[in-house]
Amino acid sequence: MSTKVIAHRGNSSQAPENTKAAFLSGLDAGAQGTELDVHLTRDGIPVVIHDPTLDRTTNGQGAIADLQWRELAHLDAGAWFGPEFEGQRIMRLSEALMLLDHKDHLINVELKSGKQIDPEYETAVLREVIGCDMLDKVLFSSFDHYLINRLVRVEPRAKAGILFYSLLYRPWEYAKMVGATSLHPYWQAVHPVWVKRAQEIGIDIHVYTVDDPQVAKGLAQLGVTSVITNKPKLILDHLGKVE
Ligand code: G3P
Ligand code: MG
Repeated sequence: MSTKVIAHRGNSSQAPENTKAAFLSGLDAGAQGTELDVHLTRDGIPVVIHDPTLDRTTNGQGAIADLQWRELAHLDAGAWFGPEFEGQRIMRLSEALMLLDHKDHLINVELKSGKQIDPEYETAVLREVIGCDMLDKVLFSSFDHYLINRLVRVEPRAKAGILFYSLLYRPWEYAKMVGATSLHPYWQAVHPVWVKRAQEIGIDIHVYTVDDPQVAKGLAQLGVTSVITNKPKLILDHLGKVE
């Protein structure tokens, strides 16, 4: 099975990350999946944005957790990237899920770490995904492995992976202990010493963030399940040439 290409925050090298424009651009480039990040507003609405604050990627300010959805809904999430993207809005997770609901398109919902103090976080996101009838299309991931463990205990049908950035010892065993179905390593944490064993027991491997075509090629030759990239077109063009 050939390595898939997942657009990181959408096609975020060409359009403002985690917006409708970036997601459509990723689909247009032919990405077989989309990765996105989720935070909760003060009134418990899951919204698609990477940082815990509005400052970098919108014309608003402050922590998302301190603000109501109605205070975020009209902010601009595109102009920071380029004037042609003015008018892009922060998306609710439900909107993004519907936009990305395409046959065989994988939606990787990253649950941010540092949310341990909010027990509502993962259950609110899970409720939204189930409410959209998208549980079978979503792959959850997080650097917070306690959160992943809670998630799969609450909803055993959920597919969930652990994000990590150092070279772990026997990570397939650790993944099983957590209840994860996939490993999501930083590309420098991928090593043939564990890839083969993980594959043998059916653990998927989704590698982030791979923008260098040569690195992508090496990972494809190892047979990883997917590479998560800011440059889906470049990587797809390149992997298309791999024998
Ligand atoms: O899921 C891979 C990657 O998105 C993890 O890091 O900070 O880009 O969300 P970050
Ligand atoms: Mg992410």
